[in-house]
Amino acid sequence: MDVLKLIKQRSTTRHYTNKPISQTALKKILEAGIWGPALHHFQPWKFVIIKDVALIKKINRMVEKKLEDINTPTFLLYPTIKTMANSKLLICVYNTKDFTRIIERFNKEYFKKAELAEISAIAAAIQNMLLEAENLGIGTCWLDMPLFCREEINKLLKIKDEMVAVLTLGYPLSKGKRSPRKKNTVVTIS
Ligand SMILES: Cc1cc2nc3c(=O)[nH]c(=O)nc-3n(C[C@H](O)[C@H](O)[C@H](O)COP(=O)(O)O)c2cc1C
Repeated sequence: MDVLKLIKQRSTTRHYTNKPISQTALKKILEAGIWGPALHHFQPWKFVIIKDVALIKKINRMVEKKLEDINTPTFLLYPTIKTMANSKLLICVYNTKDFTRIIERFNKEYFKKAELAEISAIAAAIQNMLLEAENLGIGTCWLDMPLFCREEINKLLKIKDEMVAVLTLGYPLSKGKRSPRKKNTVVTIS
């Protein structure tokens, strides 16, 4: 498929059917992620897959409680909770910090740049996965609100790395609309 067409066609999906995601489709989505660009060949990502719907609901309840506890306005809380509640699979995305652990020994400026590079590479891997999912007709939503309770989620999942995103997946019941693109975001210096 035309890549630009795919990029424009992808939109956040918040309503999913009950159809499960096959292992073959999941493998392709993860492959798209792990073939993302990475700083100095470090691949600082880890993907934790949750297929158990009961566990997804348990995590969702933990996130909802946390967001209520910190007085998150409902207009910010509900889209996350409702999307996760009906999703069929989660990809929890982690930063293993393999690069920054080494760079820590160098100067502070270098460390700050390395931190940004790790997050940037992981964001690129996420976008790759969203696009491959779209290519396979699978809907996705990129969530960061669950990060408010990443310690609790890590404890539950017995993971020690730093969570940077949760992706919800499922076959779309309905698709979201893209917002119009902002003007003047490109500056050409000639
Ligand atoms: C870094 C990032 C974090 C996001 N976090 C959340 C979130 O916590 N909850 C949520 O409902 N949507 C979240 N979204 C999804 C956005 O709301 C969604 O991408 C936006 O509505 C634009 O829709 P589009 O993807 O169809 O262009 C996030 C998106 C990005 C890129």
